[in-house]
Amino acid sequence: MSTQATGKVILITGVGRRIGAHLAEHLLSQGHRVIGTYRKYTPQLTALVDQGLIAVPCELTEPLAAEKLGAAIIAAVSRLDAIIHNASVWYDDTECALDPAKSAELYHVHVTAPVQITEELQRILPVRDQAGRASRLVLFMSDAAAHDGEANHLHYFASKAAVESAVRSLAKRLAPHTRVNAIAPGLIMFHPEDDEGHRTRRLQQNLLPFEPGAYVIGQTVDYLLACPAITATTIKVDNGHRP
Ligand SMILES: NC(=O)c1ccc[n+]([C@@H]2O[C@H](COP(=O)([O-])OP(=O)(O)OC[C@H]3O[C@@H](n4cnc5c(N)ncnc54)[C@H](OP(=O)(O)O)[C@@H]3O)[C@@H](O)[C@H]2O)c1
Repeated sequence: MSTQATGKVILITGVGRRIGAHLAEHLLSQGHRVIGTYRKYTPQLTALVDQGLIAVPCELTEPLAAEKLGAAIIAAVSRLDAIIHNASVWYDDTECALDPAKSAELYHVHVTAPVQITEELQRILPVRDQAGRASRLVLFMSDAAAHDGEANHLHYFASKAAVESAVRSLAKRLAPHTRVNAIAPGLIMFHPEDDEGHRTRRLQQNLLPFEPGAYVIGQTVDYLLACPAITATTIKVDNGHRP
């Protein structure tokens, strides 16, 4: 299948809801060709497909997930300009203690599988540097509190700290043809189940005490897509979080 003459070809993992769904909509509306992975069909996914999304089923914990995703991508497009590793799980330490497979899943979904996918796509759709200018961006989603940690989400935040280390290593490995960066969001969107007390306490930790919404991540993705001189960097988007 041919790719559009204008716009970039961008893979985003986990586009069925929230930030991933917003990024897919935002990038499609700019004329980019977007491939989005999903686990289950949601009304948001249906709307994205209507807008032109190439939807690819992908369970990151499956064996051979990277190879299967690579095969689906190469069947759909002939080049890839950006990869956004957005998919994530948010288990607390009580859940991980009850089922140790959940702590392993945090590291697998946040670090191991995205690194495998990045390397698989480099193998099947290689890119070359253009006189030291990267022609591909790989972008991970970290978390602004990755280095502060949190008493009841040790494994989640440790896995996000590992994401930032992986970003620096991959940036060295893949330069100069590929830039590798991370966005570290703070509070972007509350979950529907968050009560008023939690919302108030959480907002009070921010120098800028408002819930920004996913568009601020879209703005940061636009910046990282456009600026050719940033690699091995994490950009915090956290309303000045001061825990
Ligand atoms: N929202 C925030 O305020 C915030 C704050 C800090 C960091 N972040 C980071 O920003 C990113 C997006 O956040 P979000 O709140 O939009 O995340 P989310 O609501 O938890 O959505 C995560 C996506 O990942 C997919 N996913 C989870 N496990 C998967 C697996 N094993 N295989 C394939 N897909 C899987 C989910 O698919 P299903 O729909 O099938 O479950 C979902 O589409 C995440 O990396 C998150 O850590 C967000």
